[in-house]
Amino acid sequence: MKIINVVGARPNFMKIAPLIEEMKKHPEITQILVHTEQHYDQNMSKLFFDDLGLPKPNINLRIGSGSHAEQTARIMIEFEKVLLRENPDLTLVVGDVNSCVACALTSIKLGIPVAHVEAGLRSFDRTMPEEINRIVTDAISDFLFITEKSAKDNLLREGKLKEKIFFTGNVMIDTLLKNKKKSDASEVLSKLNLKPKEYAVLTLHRPANVDVRENLERILEALEEVQKHIKIVYPIHPRTKKMINEFRMSKTFSFLDDNLTKNSNSSFFITEPLGYLDFLKLISEAKLVLTDSGGIQEETTVLGVPCLTLRKNTERPITIKGGTNILVGTQKDKIVKAALSVLAKNNRPKKSPEKWDGLASKRIIRILLEQYELNKFKEKG
Ligand code: UD1
Repeated sequence: MKIINVVGARPNFMKIAPLIEEMKKHPEITQILVHTEQHYDQNMSKLFFDDLGLPKPNINLRIGSGSHAEQTARIMIEFEKVLLRENPDLTLVVGDVNSCVACALTSIKLGIPVAHVEAGLRSFDRTMPEEINRIVTDAISDFLFITEKSAKDNLLREGKLKEKIFFTGNVMIDTLLKNKKKSDASEVLSKLNLKPKEYAVLTLHRPANVDVRENLERILEALEEVQKHIKIVYPIHPRTKKMINEFRMSKTFSFLDDNLTKNSNSSFFITEPLGYLDFLKLISEAKLVLTDSGGIQEETTVLGVPCLTLRKNTERPITIKGGTNILVGTQKDKIVKAALSVLAKNNRPKKSPEKWDGLASKRIIRILLEQYELNKFKEKG
C-alpha cells in the first residue's frame, strides 16, 4: 500500500509524526512525505522536524505564503504533478490548514482516496478559514478519523455514512505523551528566566484576532491588565508580529515596547516561536495558558493546565466539557476576570478524554490496513 502523507504548516507536524512512525512498522506500507512548505521559516518548520524526529520530506513543494486562493491553487497545481508521478493508493491529510484541503481536493479529483485525520470538528463559524477547510475536506474524504464523539454527530448531520467514520483518538496526544519526558529535560525555563507556575503563556495568531485593529487592541488591553498580576510569555507568530508593527501597536501599548526588544525581565515578554519540546515544557509548567489556537486547547486538557481560549467558539467541545478549557471570547473584562479567577485557584486534576491515550495512530493504521485488505480502497476515490 502506497500512502502519500501531507504536511504544510506547524500544527501538522506533531500530527503526522506518530502516523509515520507507525507506518514504518509495517513493511507492506510505503510512505512518501510531501511538505507543501506553507510554513517555511526555520522556527515554524525545520525545528519541528528535528524535535519530532520526522524524516526529511521526500518532496518539498516550496509554496510559501500568499492569499488563500493563491496558496491553495499553487499547492493543487504542484501536488497534482506529485500524484500523477507517484500514483499512490491513498492520500492522508491531517488537521485543517490550507495544505490539507488543497491536497485532499487534488487527490479526490484524480480518483485517489483520501483519509482525513482529525475529521468532523466544527466551530460553526464560517468566517474561520479552518472551518471551510474542515467542511470541504470532510465532504470529499473516504476515511474520517475522529478525535472526539461530537465529531461523529457533526459528520452524520452533514450526511456522511457512518461506515466512513472511525473514532480512533487524538494523534497529537500520541506525540505529546511520547515526548513528555524528553521535553521535561528542556532548559527553556532557565533560558527565559522563568519559574514553574509563576508565569502565563500566550499564543495569538487567528486572523480574526490579529488582522483587525480593534480586535487586536481589545485583546492587548486585556493582556496589559493581566501582566500586572503574572508574567506573560508570548512566543510570537509571524502573522501577529507583522500586524503589531503595521498597526504600530507598541506606540499605544508601552508594555509591548520593551518586549519587542526582547527584555526577558519584563512582565510581558515576547520570544521567537519555539520548537515543540521547549513549547511543551513551557505550557506544562505554566500557571495559565491564554490562546486562540485549536491544538493547545487539547494539549492543556491532557496536561491539566488551565486554558483560556480567546475566541467565541471552539470546534473542540470536549476540552470544555472534559478538560481545563474555558471559552472567554475577546472582550477585555471577561478575559481579565477569568485570568484573575484562575490565578486565585489551584489547577484542576488532569483528565484525558476517551482514547487520548497514545494509541490513536496504531488504531488508524490498523484500520487502513484492514480496509485495504478488504479491497475497500478500490470502491472509493
Ligand atoms: C496557518 C493555518 C492555521 C494554523 C496556523 C498555525 C491556514 C488557513 N491557517 O495560519 O490554521 O493555526 O497556520 O501557525 O492554513 N509566515 C512567515 N513564515 C512562515 C509562515 C508564515 O513569516 O513560515 C507569515 C507570512 O507573513 C504569512 C503569514 O505568516 O503570510 C500567515 O501564514 P499562513 O500560512 O497564511 O497562515 P497562518 O496564520 O500561519
